[in-house]
Amino acid sequence: MKAKVLGISTSPRVQGNTDVLLRRALAGAESAAARTEYVRLVDYTIGPCTECNACNATGRCNVRDDYQSLLERMLDADRLIFATPVFFMTVCAQAKMLIDRGQCLWAQKYVLKKDLFCSERDRRAMVIAVGGSRSKKQFECIRLTMTSYFDSLQIRYVSNLFVSKVDARGEIEEHPAAIEQAYRLGSQLATSDTEPPEKPITIELT
Ligand SMILES: Cc1cc2nc3c(=O)[nH]c(=O)nc-3n(C[C@H](O)[C@H](O)[C@H](O)COP(=O)(O)O)c2cc1C
Repeated sequence: MKAKVLGISTSPRVQGNTDVLLRRALAGAESAAARTEYVRLVDYTIGPCTECNACNATGRCNVRDDYQSLLERMLDADRLIFATPVFFMTVCAQAKMLIDRGQCLWAQKYVLKKDLFCSERDRRAMVIAVGGSRSKKQFECIRLTMTSYFDSLQIRYVSNLFVSKVDARGEIEEHPAAIEQAYRLGSQLATSDTEPPEKPITIELT
């Protein structure tokens, strides 16, 4: 069966560096016979978590906006590629708002002790992040945030593509190694031939 791969581009910048890498990763997934879907988060109206805690009783988010429809697509997907620029050492604000709305998933799992799915599924996720600085620490926060988010989303965190020292829009095009890795990791993500790794594999490039 063809894997359904959903790519979420969270950068506010049109055709930014993470967006270019995400599109290559989706092309890689298509080369492995996956069905792909691409979403730009800024096209969705998604507000922050209001901490009303209604989800502790229902497992659902009470805030009415585009979150519910995007969540359905995320739950339907077999594979997820989450692309974010590094903003002040973590994910961008748009990405963080989506992640925080995942509190309803956390409540389902840890408060209501309910599974998101009726049967076991092989779901896997990859993160793409690009930062302008040379700091080796700039991806640490993203790694922790995404580990926690993917746990609530009940999806295995299998790979990271982290690229440093790329700042101006489109500058990533001058880094063929990063483009190549995006394609390769996207293709790898789409297949089920290999067991998912215990810990996410990280490719760090400068
Ligand atoms: C608000 C803001 C905060 C940023 N913070 C960081 C940072 O903490 N570390 C870093 O390396 N780059 C930082 N950058 C640079 C971006 O990560 C970099 O330009 C990246 O290539 C943007 O990716 P995009 O084109 O996909 O949006 C920041 C840029 C902006 C606009």
